[in-house]
Amino acid sequence: MADLSVQLAGLRFANPFWLASGIWGESGDSLAGAVRAGAGGVVTKSIGAAPRPGFPNPTVEEYDRWGFLNAMGLPNPGIAEYPREIEIARRAGAPVIGSVFGGDAEEFAQLGERMAATGVDALELNLSCPHAEGFGSEVGSDPENVERILRAVTSKVRVPVVAKITPNTADAAALAVAAERGGAAAISAINTVRGLAIDVHLRRPVLAHGTGGLSGPAIRPVGLACVWQIYEKVRIPVVGIGGIMTAQDALEYIMAGARAVQVGTAVAFDGVGVFSRLGPELSQLLDELGFSRVADAVGVAHQGTTGLPPP
Ligand SMILES: Cc1cc2nc3c(=O)[nH]c(=O)nc-3n(C[C@H](O)[C@H](O)[C@H](O)COP(=O)(O)O)c2cc1C
Repeated sequence: MADLSVQLAGLRFANPFWLASGIWGESGDSLAGAVRAGAGGVVTKSIGAAPRPGFPNPTVEEYDRWGFLNAMGLPNPGIAEYPREIEIARRAGAPVIGSVFGGDAEEFAQLGERMAATGVDALELNLSCPHAEGFGSEVGSDPENVERILRAVTSKVRVPVVAKITPNTADAAALAVAAERGGAAAISAINTVRGLAIDVHLRRPVLAHGTGGLSGPAIRPVGLACVWQIYEKVRIPVVGIGGIMTAQDALEYIMAGARAVQVGTAVAFDGVGVFSRLGPELSQLLDELGFSRVADAVGVAHQGTTGLPPP
């Protein structure tokens, strides 16, 4: 069976499948449950300085198996409540990545320090949520600001810092390059794609917030294109996210340049049990394709020709 273990930013993951932020991972117990089900790593819900209730309902619209439109508004218990959740999650035995969101470099640095102090193995900076005013992609769409935020956080913490990049921009790779210049240890891409749904009977947007973020299989080609472009521009590892439902979807990301992947909507649809099938499925697929290690498949689609006859 192909070796699924992954080294990334000085950390070792038993397999490349991580739980994505915001889906399933708010409490320590739920994060630990994902690890027990087979996730190679887990990312927490994005945590801010103070508790936030999030936006009023409706906050999520489900489309028939092709994704979700959500505008949750970053509901979270605030960083003060979080150390005990991290402690519970860490006992499950896989790397725990603490996601934080802030309004500027200073707030990110303070939160990063507090999250790092909980004992997380790495930080992920949410520079990409498309629907929370003053946060996410509003602070993560300007390369200079992204570099400033990364510099502020990496100067304060010793753990590796992952920058989560938005696809809602003309040049996601430029944001990744800026994050690398600021000291990021890895790039994760993508967050949700800005979207809108209208209820024609009520004559208003379906979500209370109006616009939201689209996730699930519908955004996979967008995520793949971002990972592809980022891989060509940075030397640090890339973590692919967006619409991964099967091992083959994950392998597309890996061949586009991702060293690891995150899974969100598939977990919302089918529960954390997805992690128990994705690993063995990927191992079998790699065997069929002649790869003895998942690491050997990273970025191979950039090499132009495989030596195989054209389809
Ligand atoms: C309901 C919901 C909540 C989310 N909350 C967060 C969050 O708190 N922080 C974050 O960085 N991303 C958040 N995301 C984005 C996911 O982590 C992921 O980037 C996105 O959903 C694409 O992956 P997927 O297609 O596998 O779901 C959220 C997504 C959904 C659907």
